[in-house]
Order: sequence, then structure tokens, then C-alpha cells
Amino acid sequence: MLGMAVIAISSCGSNKKKEMVTTQEFGLSGGKEVFLYSLTNKAGNEIKLINYGAAIVQIDVPDRNGVKENVTFGYDSFGGYEKGDLYFGKVVGQYANRIAKGKLTIDSVEYSLSLNNGPNTLHGGNTGWHSRVWDAQVLKNTDFPAVRFTYNKPDMEEGYPGNVVAEVVYTWTDDNEIIMDYKVTTDRKTVLNITNHAYFNLHGAGNGDILDHEMMIKASAFTPVDSTLIPTGELRPVEGTPFDFRTPHTIGERIGEEYDQLILGLGYDHNFVLDNAEEVDAVVYDPLTGRVLEVITDQPGVQLYTGNFLDGSQTGIGGKVYNYRSGFCLETQHFPDSPNKPVFPSVILTPEEPFLSSTIYRFSVK
Ligand code: GAL
Repeated sequence: MLGMAVIAISSCGSNKKKEMVTTQEFGLSGGKEVFLYSLTNKAGNEIKLINYGAAIVQIDVPDRNGVKENVTFGYDSFGGYEKGDLYFGKVVGQYANRIAKGKLTIDSVEYSLSLNNGPNTLHGGNTGWHSRVWDAQVLKNTDFPAVRFTYNKPDMEEGYPGNVVAEVVYTWTDDNEIIMDYKVTTDRKTVLNITNHAYFNLHGAGNGDILDHEMMIKASAFTPVDSTLIPTGELRPVEGTPFDFRTPHTIGERIGEEYDQLILGLGYDHNFVLDNAEEVDAVVYDPLTGRVLEVITDQPGVQLYTGNFLDGSQTGIGGKVYNYRSGFCLETQHFPDSPNKPVFPSVILTPEEPFLSSTIYRFSVK
């Protein structure tokens, strides 16, 4: 690991002296430098980002007594990110989640992707956008600390057509919101599904499981999957199922039920079809600490993943071990395997129309 000397400090918003971004060396990947960006808002709370996978690596937010703790999974050093394959905090592309048998067809041309998840492609393949060094720019003269990451994806990398330019701007507001603004363009017709894969534990990352967290997802339907976690194409109403989070339920309350989809998913690992009727799409509350996470998105779906594949093999920031179901993800997205499911909303990206999208993670206490 390279030295951790602070190499740059940038203030932003001329009248808000306390807000700032500091930049430190973090590692080297394929000869490219990886930096750690620390963004401090006016409330004195800090998040950390790296340009490897354009990842969120740390989110320090207070509990109801003002005690700050990191609530997302991350590693102390770059080595963890290079070895780790669980997408901690990373931006996932070119197609987040699964594509059945790694096949897709655009205008009668079939494209083959690498298979990295049983018979399917997961999260953009072996060397998806999560494993790339993105260009980075600390933004100046913004209202809040903000960093832009850009990845230029060459045509046919991982089998996806198009020279694609992906951009995500992270903004850390004084209201403890991480705003993620995405812009993606292509020079030829392709498919796109982009998300952030942060894991959360509102007790603090590594402090027990998340089964006592109360969750609300404003979704009246979800997309059931087969045994390889590919959607069947059905949009199943949540009414009367353990997938009804339209009113708050703890994550653990029904996760062990003998319900076909909980058995196939080994817990919750499903795309919810968002109603998109109100500003906030999902709310998670930790009764122990009082921390609240709200998720706001313009995307049609969100993948609830309850850390069913976590097994304690990952040691994160501060030596904390990430055990089974000790983190949950709410990955805002288009539906998995949409390229092969004409009934799902289209994921086609054309040169004529850039993809523009925003998702917000907002932290508070009650
Ligand atoms: C999730 C996915 C899970 C699992 C996880 C990474 O997005 O839905 O099935 O692959 O990523 O371990």
C-alpha cells in the first residue's frame, strides 16, 4: 500500500469553509493510481470514496446519541478491494445483476458475455466496472463536497457493444445525503443497468446482523426468480407474501418462512418493482441506534439483498468481520435479465439519448 499522506485539500462552496474534500493515495492497480477521497459536510460528518470501482468505502454518521460509526462495508486498504469480490460500495456495470446464460440480442445480433455466476453473467462479468480504475475529479464551486468518477469502456469489453462513457457524481450534502448522479452515453446501441452495491448495517458495519432492522419498500410487486436467480418474467403482487414491505417489517420477521421465493433466494435476493409514487422509495430504521436510511431513486426497481452469501471470510475496516446477514443492499436498478424479458422496461441505450439517473441515500435519526 502506498503512503497515506494527504496530497490535496479542496474547499468547496466559498462560504462553507468547513466542507471539504481531501485526497490521499490508496493503491495501484494495473499501473493506475487509486485515491481515497474524504468528503466532510458542514455537519462534520464524513464519507470516503475511491476511484477503484467508483466505490463508497466509508459512511460515518451519528446515532440518536450523536455517536458516529461507519455504517457501510469497506476495507482498510486497497488489497481488500483487489481481492474482495463482493462489490462493497462499488458501482456495478455495464449490466448490474444477472443476464441469463450470458446471452443478449440487439437488432438480431447475438452477444455473448462471460459466465461468472453458474450459468449466468453477474454484475457486468469478471472484469466489470467495479474492478476498473475510474478517472476522478474533485468538483469545485459546488454547494457541497462532490467528486466525479468517469469510466471509458471500450467497445466489446466483457462482450458488451459500444464505446461507453459512464459517469457518476457523488455529492455529500449537509443533510447527510449521498446523491449519486449517473450519466452514461454510448456510440452504438447497447444495454445498460447501473447501480451502487453498498452494504449497510445501521448498528455499524460489523456489529451483528441486520435482522432487527425495520424495512419499508414502496413496491406492490416483485420479480420471482428461478433456481439460478434469473427472473421468471412474472410480476408477482407482494400482497399476502413475505415480500410485502409496504408497511414496516423487520428484515428477520419472515425471512425464514417456507415461501418458494425465500427458499430459492436463500433469503431476500430479489428485485422489487417500485411504485415510484412518492419521493422516498425505501426506508430502513434501526431501533437500537435510531439510525434511518432512506433510498430515493428514479429507477424502476431495487434489489433487496440480505447478505445471504456473507460468511465471515471478509474482514473490513477496523478489523470488523462481516458475517452472514450482517449487511443488506438496496441496489436501485432496472430489472435483472431485462435484455431477455421483453415485458420488463427497456434497458437499451442508444447514441441518441444519454442515460441520466439519480439515486440518493439519506441518513438521519429518530
Ligand atoms: C447481489 C446479488 C446477489 C449476490 C451479491 C454479491 O446484487 O443479487 O445474488 O450475487 O450481489 O455477492
